[in-house]
Amino acid sequence: MDLIALLKQNDVLFLLFTSAFFFLLLIKLTFSKSIKNLPPSPPTMPIIGNLHQIGNKPHISITNFAKEFGPLISLRLGSQLLVVASSPDTAMEILKVQDRSFSSRFVPSTFRQSSVLPYSLVWADCDQTWRNLRTVCRTELFSAKAMETHAWVRGEKISDMVEFLRNKQGEVVDVGELVFTTLFNTLSCIIFGKDFVDSKYEHETHGGLKDALENILEYGGKVDLGDFFPMIQRLDLQGIKKGGLKQIKIVYSCWEDMISKRRSQIGSSAWSSDQADSLLDRLIEQGFSDVQINQFVGELYIAGTDTTSSTVGWAIAELLKHKEALSKVESEVLKKDMNFDKISEELPYLHACIKETLRLHPTGPFLLPHRAQETCEVMGYTIPKDSQVFVNIWAIGRDPKIWDDPLSFKPERFLGSKIDFKGQNFEFTPFGSGRRMCPGLPLGLKSVELILASLVREFDWVLPNGDDPSKLDMNDKFGVTLQKEKPLKIVFKPKQK
Ligand code: HEM
Repeated sequence: MDLIALLKQNDVLFLLFTSAFFFLLLIKLTFSKSIKNLPPSPPTMPIIGNLHQIGNKPHISITNFAKEFGPLISLRLGSQLLVVASSPDTAMEILKVQDRSFSSRFVPSTFRQSSVLPYSLVWADCDQTWRNLRTVCRTELFSAKAMETHAWVRGEKISDMVEFLRNKQGEVVDVGELVFTTLFNTLSCIIFGKDFVDSKYEHETHGGLKDALENILEYGGKVDLGDFFPMIQRLDLQGIKKGGLKQIKIVYSCWEDMISKRRSQIGSSAWSSDQADSLLDRLIEQGFSDVQINQFVGELYIAGTDTTSSTVGWAIAELLKHKEALSKVESEVLKKDMNFDKISEELPYLHACIKETLRLHPTGPFLLPHRAQETCEVMGYTIPKDSQVFVNIWAIGRDPKIWDDPLSFKPERFLGSKIDFKGQNFEFTPFGSGRRMCPGLPLGLKSVELILASLVREFDWVLPNGDDPSKLDMNDKFGVTLQKEKPLKIVFKPKQK
């Protein structure tokens, strides 16, 4: 997010930016009318507003502003107004009390494409398309019944992961890659009825699908100057829209043959609905077009893989740093015959560790960007139509007014506590709340639990080069998801049983 650094790197951009700056300054001085009664704001610079104060760790800089200016603040990013809620009360106002007015999305430019938006679940307003897709998510993927139907897939992919690690004895493994691949294959089996990662499990995917998905996430996390200065938006000076679209097309091309083959089988007279054995089959049967399938499936991969793998990565890092917590999980996991379907009830300490991880390291520190559909009033302040709206769950999770000793990893705080992440406790909403709440919670949570429980049960975790786990670097890197700055690498040593 470092605007100055970005401009220094690119002379043409600098020239265009400064010309646009003075042109806009002229317009602003001529026409601007200030909106009254906005939430408090740090002092702004003409035209760029607060852009120069955000830096490359906006979750930290914006939390610091909230400490100084209060739980509802406004920031000006060029011509874009950003409103940030940083307390349970303001979060409840945005996500529950006035959910309807704030449930639209502010769409990053990578996804602001005419071939994407009309079919999107993640970026669409809450229109009929969005409602239909949420229904498909519920009935086909995340209802209790659908989760039960797919239990064997989850179990099989976990076994593949364990076998892969056994064969890797003594070698250093990138935890993010490992979990990403496991999730990726789980989703591929549910969606297409087959794995996409090759049999050696070495992270190579059919047609480069996994790389292209990762690239889309990378583009999605880039700061686009056009978002702040609409006059230069159409020029796509940083190539974000163009680059993002290229990757989106690569993703679609990876499964287009599969869709057309399946479509002709389903269209034939020999087809009966009993043969439908994947989400793809059901989507085709329900009349989804190829573009609708592409967009829906692509978004499931994008929303499901990175979030889950970063949560597992943070949980492993915290457990490595906190030996007592790790041994409590270990004795809990080893005591039981693992019943894959009842992990959260049977392993309360592991469940508390996952909650504690999500409190300290929520994958979306601001949730996904919301947008005010109309001008509304929150806590006596005016939020103008089309403001971008963040709920800073990173700040809320670390607020000493809410949590005792908030910066320490203490899973015990959740044992016997009624605080849950189902969207009713506004001090803890790592999956959001209200109509935009994460539909994939059941699969995300189950996957994190299964992967962690299996890794603890089957392996001892050792850092490469005998590094001391208590000194593990816990710095984060802001992007679409909040990742560890230094990827976590571990040697998994099979447990002697
Ligand atoms: C630990 C894992 C996960 C976490 C922490 C997580 C978190 C979130 C968050 C914070 C949001 C945004 C809520 C908002 O803007 O108010 C979201 C949205 C979403 N998530 Fe998840 N998620 C996880 C796993 C998954 C999985 C496994 C899937 C599907 C395979 C998924 C699919 C989605 C979709 C489609 C949306 C957009 C919903 C909409 O805009 O209506 N997520 N998730």
